[in-house]
Amino acid sequence: MKKGIFITFEGADGCGKTTQIELIKKYLDLNNIDNVLTREPGGCDLGFELRKILLHYEKPVSNIAELFLYLADRAQHTEFTIKPLLAEGKIVLCDRYIDSTVAYQGYARGQDIEKIIELNNLVTKNLKPDLTIVFDIDSNLAQSRLKGEKDRLEKEGLEFHKALRKGYLELAKSNPERIKVISSDDTIENIHKQCVELIKGYIN
Ligand code: TMP
Repeated sequence: MKKGIFITFEGADGCGKTTQIELIKKYLDLNNIDNVLTREPGGCDLGFELRKILLHYEKPVSNIAELFLYLADRAQHTEFTIKPLLAEGKIVLCDRYIDSTVAYQGYARGQDIEKIIELNNLVTKNLKPDLTIVFDIDSNLAQSRLKGEKDRLEKEGLEFHKALRKGYLELAKSNPERIKVISSDDTIENIHKQCVELIKGYIN
């Protein structure tokens, strides 16, 4: 039985999501609010192996194979990590979840969005986040922020990233209760304040 609170974070590569999640975790810890940070792909042992393949496999990967690898990670992670933590009453912060698959494998890779939503429901047994924060960023800016060696998805071009952004914004439009959009075009402090305001509504 779910008792905790499930919060997910989404956005294109380069949107500043990781920095913000770390700040939120720090905020919750400082306020003695019991929380666990996890991520997809790679938030559990099996997922850790799948993440290596998903981000660094060097030969071509079919779109369907990619989709099912992300879904396999999610099935394992939801059943053995997220649900037990929620049952213990924890706040679970998850770096990416169902909306990443709709945005990346659906909108950006051009696969059937309704089918992906159905598959997400299947592998999570319908577990939806209580709150999802999408960090919205201009695609050119996001790409210019990516430093160092790029992984398989980061290497995709501007068109891919524009479709991805459109996907997130459409998802937010069709799920206004759950998904809140914050612009990444602001200072780290201001973005953090907006996140805290949103999260407070769920933890008080
Ligand atoms: P990360 O670098 O934010 O941890 O995410 C890993 C990459 O995997 C990122 O480029 C987004 C991508 N991804 C998908 O394409 N589909 C998914 O379902 C998930 C969870 C991530």
